[in-house]
Amino acid sequence: MSTFSQYNFKGQKALIRVDFNVPLDKKTFAITDDTRIKAAVPTIKKILGDGGSVILMSHLGRPKEGPEDKYSLKHLVGHISELLGTNVQFANDCIGKEAVDKAAALKPGEVLLLENLRFYKEEEKGDAGFAEKLSKLGDVYVNDAFGTAHRAHASTAVIAQFFPRDKKMFGLLMESEVSSAEKVMNNAEKPFVAIIGGAKVSDKILIIENLLERATDIIIGGGMAYTFEKAQGGKIGNSLCEDDRLDTARELLKKAEAKGVCLHFPSDSVIADKFDAAALTSNAPSNNIPDGWMGLDVGPNACQQFVNVIKRSKTILWNGPMGVFEMEKFQHGTKSVATAVAEATQDGAFSLVGGGDSVAAVNQFGFNDQVSYVSTGGGAMLEFFEGKELPGIAAINK
Ligand code: 3PG
Ligand code: MG
Repeated sequence: MSTFSQYNFKGQKALIRVDFNVPLDKKTFAITDDTRIKAAVPTIKKILGDGGSVILMSHLGRPKEGPEDKYSLKHLVGHISELLGTNVQFANDCIGKEAVDKAAALKPGEVLLLENLRFYKEEEKGDAGFAEKLSKLGDVYVNDAFGTAHRAHASTAVIAQFFPRDKKMFGLLMESEVSSAEKVMNNAEKPFVAIIGGAKVSDKILIIENLLERATDIIIGGGMAYTFEKAQGGKIGNSLCEDDRLDTARELLKKAEAKGVCLHFPSDSVIADKFDAAALTSNAPSNNIPDGWMGLDVGPNACQQFVNVIKRSKTILWNGPMGVFEMEKFQHGTKSVATAVAEATQDGAFSLVGGGDSVAAVNQFGFNDQVSYVSTGGGAMLEFFEGKELPGIAAINK
């Protein structure tokens, strides 16, 4: 059993760093995707169930200069209260008298949400004085913010030094995120396919390099595929291309060959005459796209090719969409991949999906409960699979 599960929170005030950086409607401030909040509920409920109280702290967005109404965590109070089935209190500041008084007055079973940590620039700077002030609000520190674990901020990492060894721990969400990711990274049953998509090669170089050490197959889709096509002499029309990464793409191809990892590129593409939901569309080989046209999704042959690889795999990691799935004409590739991942999972494969866009895609197509694990981490998951040490994890393990 984990430290968290064994810990009895009775009479304790648990200060939990959560990642409630959720999307809000610009006009009404209603939460448009509450996945990250729901994911932290079991941790909060365990503490309340033990007879402890909870102080929640998070960032929201990227405020620049101090408080901004649109980034206030007060917009979340109603929904968190609903999810927890109890009235959540709110402090208009994350440090200072109001926060201190409200935290001190908390009774067992009660929950307090602090205002956005990033209203202080000290948060992102990892300021130790600020971290120490936060630390005083609780008896025990619980880090459940996997989505922010790649940031060495005051509340995610620096704060841990102010708690003794037995009073700092991961929450249930962080534990399951890390164990799913570690299973894929270090204990993947073969064949292991990594499906990597998205617009830019430059964002995915490090993850591809690290996966070349581990995967059997790597499927490359999305806009980044065209940089690889061009690097191999293909004609890509107006498709996305990072011309300054052509050499990088060639190096990755060479490394893959040397390691015996099979790289799969889309043999054909759905092409469009402009980047628009109402564009004219056609199909073309991905290495022979006519001038004036651009590849916006993988084509029907590529779908079949990718589905075959996915369905013979025992471990699947998926990060990044295959095309512009937000537009109906260009969602077939991403939908086919999502379907194949769900079917392979049904047949016994372990599948981990992460990264904002691929998670949005599995949600949109209704496959979120048909894959083994959906990560709440975008950047954090990417950095984990790049092989980097995540500061939020290291701070507690130290
Ligand atoms: C995220 O959504 O990526 C995390 O909440 C971290 O936020 P950040 O990228 O603004 O640091
Ligand atoms: Mg981010």
